[in-house]
Amino acid sequence: MSALGEPHGGALVDLVAEGAEREQLAREIADLPAIELDSRTASDFELLANGGFSPLTGFMGEAAYRSVVEEMTLPDGLPWSIPVTLSVPEARAGELRPGVRASLRDGDGLPLGVIAIEETYRRDKAHEAGRVFRTADEAHPGVAALMASGDLALGGPVRALRLPDHGDFPDHRLTPAQTRAAFAERGWRTVVGFQTRNPIHRAHEYLIKVALEGVDGALIHPLVGDTKDDDIPADVRMRCYEALLARYFPADRALLSVLPAAMRYAGPREAVFHAIMRKNHGCTHFIVGRDHAGVGNYYGTYDAQRIFDDIDLDALGIQPLFFEHAFWCLRSGAMATTKTSPAPPEERLFLSGTKVREMLARGEDLPVEFTRPEVAAILMESARGG
Ligand code: ADX
Repeated sequence: MSALGEPHGGALVDLVAEGAEREQLAREIADLPAIELDSRTASDFELLANGGFSPLTGFMGEAAYRSVVEEMTLPDGLPWSIPVTLSVPEARAGELRPGVRASLRDGDGLPLGVIAIEETYRRDKAHEAGRVFRTADEAHPGVAALMASGDLALGGPVRALRLPDHGDFPDHRLTPAQTRAAFAERGWRTVVGFQTRNPIHRAHEYLIKVALEGVDGALIHPLVGDTKDDDIPADVRMRCYEALLARYFPADRALLSVLPAAMRYAGPREAVFHAIMRKNHGCTHFIVGRDHAGVGNYYGTYDAQRIFDDIDLDALGIQPLFFEHAFWCLRSGAMATTKTSPAPPEERLFLSGTKVREMLARGEDLPVEFTRPEVAAILMESARGG
């Protein structure tokens, strides 16, 4: 059992080689068979290397894979909800065998690290999709990405030469060790993590602030790996987050940093996965609101909360904080949920992401009850192509 605030599994993993080991890796890497990582797998590599996926030390072998798919735990019983796998085309089965070391490369072909392949196996992708995404429908973006991945999975430990390069948000790319140090520096003992792939609207702000009333600090932790094409791009979102934080949050209570993970849109399973990554970043609490990490109508509004009933919360080691669907209450003149407002439906203002996108496309102002004016201005400027 891990205590609150500890990394998952008890110790923060760091796979980045140093000193003599690094020199040895750099020497051998040119001669190894190469595996070019797509952006999703490069995100997984980064979170393995920097400890965001602690206690994992490499891409999952078959036992871990099956345990995660069937039981939502690693083989030792620790909660884990989403497989972390490295897949290559079947045609490479002869070359990428157990016992072989292969280089892992970024999209430019530059070396990132090495995997020591211990085993190879085939995944039943339709079964995996049914278990992890609760659907095998290829119109689901996470299922589509799974189906498009190679058929041969390679399991084995990874060592990293470096973390992937990112030109963007250099001041907001804190590793788990760095967020933990930042919390300690601020004297925060309890920290709520907030996952988002959207601009922070009033409903999001409400959840964060309600949660923040009960803890020392908030980690605003937008996910900036691959998202759907119609999600708002990360650079625009970052400008929104900065504008919001500068004016509406006390500087010593909220920290903005990005999570390099890719979205799976796996709803309930991804909520657990998101919580585990935030635990590794030092959070003690994690916000799960309506349709967390959902897409389309694949998941019920509160499925991502109910899944925590199936998880051993002591072993999970981070406290999920559940929120009902928040809205602007016309009667109270404030954000609320049905737990705090008796107003009938016609006095509740909800705006969906889709509706916001439509309004932005028509050049309409976003109402202040939905989005702070500073955030609306950035979104409108970006919708105009600015
Ligand atoms: S997500 O894919 O990252 O979950 P989003 O950025 O919209 O999407 O949501 C971030 C967090 O806020 C999630 O926990 C989500 O459940 C929650 N959330 C978003 N909108 C609302 C709302 N109106 N009421 C309650 N929770 C919400």
